[in-house]
This record gives sequence, C-alpha cells and structure tokens, in this order.
Amino acid sequence: MDRLKNKVAIVTGGAHGIGAATVRRFREEGAQVIIADLNRSAGEALSAVTGATYLPVDVSDHAAVGRLVDDTVRQYGGLDIIVSSAAVFHAGPIDEMTPATWNEVMAVNLGAAYHLAHFATPHLRQRPGASIVLISSVQGMIGFKTFAAYAASKGGLIGLMHQLASELAPGVRVNTICPGTIQTYPETPLDPDTERLWADRHLLRRVGLPIEVANAALFLASDEASFITGHNLVVDGGMTVMGD
Ligand SMILES: NC(=O)c1ccc[n+]([C@@H]2O[C@H](COP(=O)([O-])OP(=O)(O)OC[C@H]3O[C@@H](n4cnc5c(N)ncnc54)[C@H](O)[C@@H]3O)[C@@H](O)[C@H]2O)c1
Repeated sequence: MDRLKNKVAIVTGGAHGIGAATVRRFREEGAQVIIADLNRSAGEALSAVTGATYLPVDVSDHAAVGRLVDDTVRQYGGLDIIVSSAAVFHAGPIDEMTPATWNEVMAVNLGAAYHLAHFATPHLRQRPGASIVLISSVQGMIGFKTFAAYAASKGGLIGLMHQLASELAPGVRVNTICPGTIQTYPETPLDPDTERLWADRHLLRRVGLPIEVANAALFLASDEASFITGHNLVVDGGMTVMGD
C-alpha cells in the first residue's frame, strides 16, 4: 500500500484508460497524483473518487506543460514521477495523411514527452529515486498498416527514452512501456469477431486490461525498479514475439 509513499506524480492522459488506471494504482500506493488531461468531466470525476488533483492541460502546449510542472511543485513541494500516457490515435493510409494530422500526432504523442522532460528535469533531479515512464506502444516496435504517424511517434518515444536515460543518469531513471492491445473503452465493446481477431494476435489469446499496464508503470516508477533505466518494458501478452 505504500510503494509510492511521499511521492508526487504527474500522469498525463490520466482521465481515461491506461492513464486513469495508473492514477488509481498510484493513489492506492500512497502517491500524490496530478491528473493532466483535456477531458475535464472524466478528470474531475476521477479526482472526486481518488483524491487526485485534476488540472486541465493540453500536453502538446509547451507553456501549458511548464505551468503544470510549476503548479505541481508549488502545491506539493516537489515532483518525483512523470507518467506520460496522453495520446491521439489518428489512422489512415500514408498517401491520404494530411500534414495537420501528422503534426497533431507528433505534437501530442511525442512533443508532450519533450515538454514534460524539459520542465520537470530540474525538479526530478532534486528527488532521490525520481522516475520518468513514457507510454509507447508495440506499434513503435513492429509494423502495422495505416498508423504511420502514430507508429513514428511511438518509436520516437523509445529513442527519446534511450537519450533521456543517458542524459539524466544517475539521478533520474527513464523507461518506456510498450502495451499490446488494451481494452480501454469497455463502454464501447468490439463485436465478438473483431475482439477474437485482436485477441488471437497475442500469445495469451486475449487483449490486455488497463490495470495490467498500470501495474507495470507502478513497478517502473517505484523503488523496486531502482536498478532499471533505459529499458523498454513490453506489456503485450506476447504479441511482438508471436511467430504464427
Ligand atoms: N489502448 C491500447 O490498446 C494501447 C496500446 C498501446 C499503447 N497505448 C498507449 O497507451 C496510452 C494510453 O492509451 P489509452 O488507450 O489509455 O487512451 P485513452 O484514449 O483511453 O486515454 C487517452 C487520454 O489522453 C487524453 N489526451 C489526449 N490528447 C491530450 C492532450 N493534448 N492533452 C492532454 N490530454 C490529452 C485524453 O483526453 C484521454 O483521457 C497512449 O499513449 C497510447 O498510445 C494504448
């Protein structure tokens, strides 16, 4: 219950899905948590049940992320953990993808990690055991059709993680998580055939749950991972090693 006692964490995209599961898990383990998300209604609802603080932030906005970090440090006296989970998921064939789509995906999915690291680093360096966890994707590791911008942004996060792990060592650990298919919209379930199709792309023959990624984020953020940095933790039910 106390794996994150006295820690202060920002979780971007924390109002829904994997981010929301991470907020819940971190609160259970004693952290002060800031939900940074554009979805005000979901953010406020989660804040009410968990005691986390909700701040409406567009994480693709450099100055807004600066204010997020400043407000967090002012309110809680420091910052120990960043989990960057906010993302947009636009898909489409490359010859139909507009510059606007490409730029938006890069700005949210990859740009936010830069903004967060840029502003948070001076504060993280002051805290023992500080940790950054970037939520990437198996799509940053293997090829899928029609997800060029998304896959490029997720691959970019892995490259950024390698760089930051080197640059911020020894004080700040930096890791990525690559989830497989995670059921983050249970309110709009897939039809059984599509669900089976996705399930069969994983060795474990099912899609994952947000809590299964949140538990990985908890591990990487906690002192249990004190000798782990520069690592890409694949949480994909065996999707990326499936040969058949
Ligand atoms: N769900 C999956 O199958 C899956 C698989 C691999 C990787 N991932 C990654 O996991 C992370 C979480 O995915 P999810 O399925 O939980 O997504 P989700 O859609 O459930 O939640 C994403 C959250 O990000 C927020 N957000 C989007 N743009 C934002 C912005 N500009 N500023 C602030 N907040 C913003 C949304 O409001 C939402 O609450 C993402 O990085 C995603 O790429 C998800």
